[in-house]
Amino acid sequence: MEITVKSKSLFRGGDYGIIVFGTQDKTFLYETKDQIIKDTVNRASKKKLFSGKKNQVCVFDTASSETAQVVALCGIGTIGNNDAARNNVADAIRSLLKHGCSKVAVMIPETKDAGAFAQAVCEGILLGSYTFNKYKTVDNDDKAIKSVVLYSDKKYLADVENAANKAETITESVCLARDIVNEPGNNLVPEDVASFARKLAKDSKKLKATVYDVPAMEKMGMGGILAVGKGSVNEPRLITLAYKGRQSDKVDLALVGKGVTFDTGGISLKPDKGMEEMKGDMAGAASVLAAVHAIARLGLNINVTAVVGAVENMPGGKAYKPGDIIKTFNGKTIEVISADAEGRVTLADTVSYAFREIKADRVIDVATLTGACVVALGHVCSGSYTNNQAFMDLYKKAATDVDEKTWQMPMYEEYRDLNKSRIADVMNIGGGRDAGSITAAYFIYEFIEKRPWIHLDIAGVEMVNKTKGIYVYGGTGVPVRTFVKLSELISKTL
Ligand code: BES
Ligand code: ZN
Ligand code: ZN
Repeated sequence: MEITVKSKSLFRGGDYGIIVFGTQDKTFLYETKDQIIKDTVNRASKKKLFSGKKNQVCVFDTASSETAQVVALCGIGTIGNNDAARNNVADAIRSLLKHGCSKVAVMIPETKDAGAFAQAVCEGILLGSYTFNKYKTVDNDDKAIKSVVLYSDKKYLADVENAANKAETITESVCLARDIVNEPGNNLVPEDVASFARKLAKDSKKLKATVYDVPAMEKMGMGGILAVGKGSVNEPRLITLAYKGRQSDKVDLALVGKGVTFDTGGISLKPDKGMEEMKGDMAGAASVLAAVHAIARLGLNINVTAVVGAVENMPGGKAYKPGDIIKTFNGKTIEVISADAEGRVTLADTVSYAFREIKADRVIDVATLTGACVVALGHVCSGSYTNNQAFMDLYKKAATDVDEKTWQMPMYEEYRDLNKSRIADVMNIGGGRDAGSITAAYFIYEFIEKRPWIHLDIAGVEMVNKTKGIYVYGGTGVPVRTFVKLSELISKTL
């Protein structure tokens, strides 16, 4: 899809679909002299089909061969509601495609912050038209929007153009993350995650991918990743993707992602219902690799390294099992209670690697960690945890800015005690089913050091089971956009 920017004039494009925004007070933000569009808009208002209310999307055929053939009216409630615009445009673009449009014009309202609005609009267009059809050999509907023209007031043209470029870069990485979350487990094993990282590294001279195999991990003492990987013929990998965006040997931020390419539950086998969703158990890994890729392509002034322990959790003759005791990278021991609480066992190694070996100033780990998080927060937001409130506040600001919701969860000391083991330093399930997402966070807490850390439990938001707004059935690519925004915020302080 090609996105171009043009100066606003009387719109003439009979083969176009056109997207126009409305707010509740001023109703329409597109002052047109064109009678056909005016009539369509008036008809929709009179019939009370459209009032500019947030999240209203109405699509009408105009039967005009001169102006647009289809008009999509998008309600954003009030001006400045870029999140509504992002999602509405995504709905509208799919609807325009169904109406047979392959070219789309978007009228950017004349607001002070036309750049930010245009960025949200482009993100909506690019994320909303995402498809994953590579495995469809019949009924593969490959119709696509070919070109989009953003019409803007002359004085905002440069802002809008920059915004469009930025949105293209960011969403391309989000879609790469979605692609590998959507890949089935038979086509994405740990070595494929390594190849993905290597492929991303080719897009920038400032990116470097490093992959450690089993013998290398044995030397390093990565007991957690190795234990989880023992049940599978597809060997685990430790992967780093480092971006050096400023002249300093410091790593300003490490992003650690859970990379379980498929989670059967191992010897503590999961029930079969819904197990196919566990192909998405590497969504944390996908998000950190894709985020570093986007940060590099934007050339941000920051050093960021992604760390991934890629592993397949399978039952098998050599699989790790309940009762086993594992020695991790930082020397602490874990008593295994469930082979299905594997994510935290791998993160024990990767999080301590980010602190001890990479010596990152700040660490965020992101994982589809617990079903308990889905029970607590559903599919709306991630659960977040920290040892440093200022860092968390900055993260929340970034998340709010890009509309990837998160909810900070409590870390009362009492929860920590639940992970105590009688024969090892810690056990991998504490408190039975109680406070499952919190005890999992406290497990990871045992492997951090005294520097700012955030843990994100993204179980429930890594995939969607229906298409709505910017999210298309399957992987969401959350929280790539937050990581990029956060890196931008941090880079300004360096
Ligand atoms: N990958 C799962 C968590 C998960 C559940 C992710 C639903 C996405 C959607 C994780 O490895 C797991 O199995 N967790 C167990 C932990 C339990 C054994 C303490 C769970 O949540 O049931
Ligand atoms: Zn599991
Ligand atoms: Zn898992």
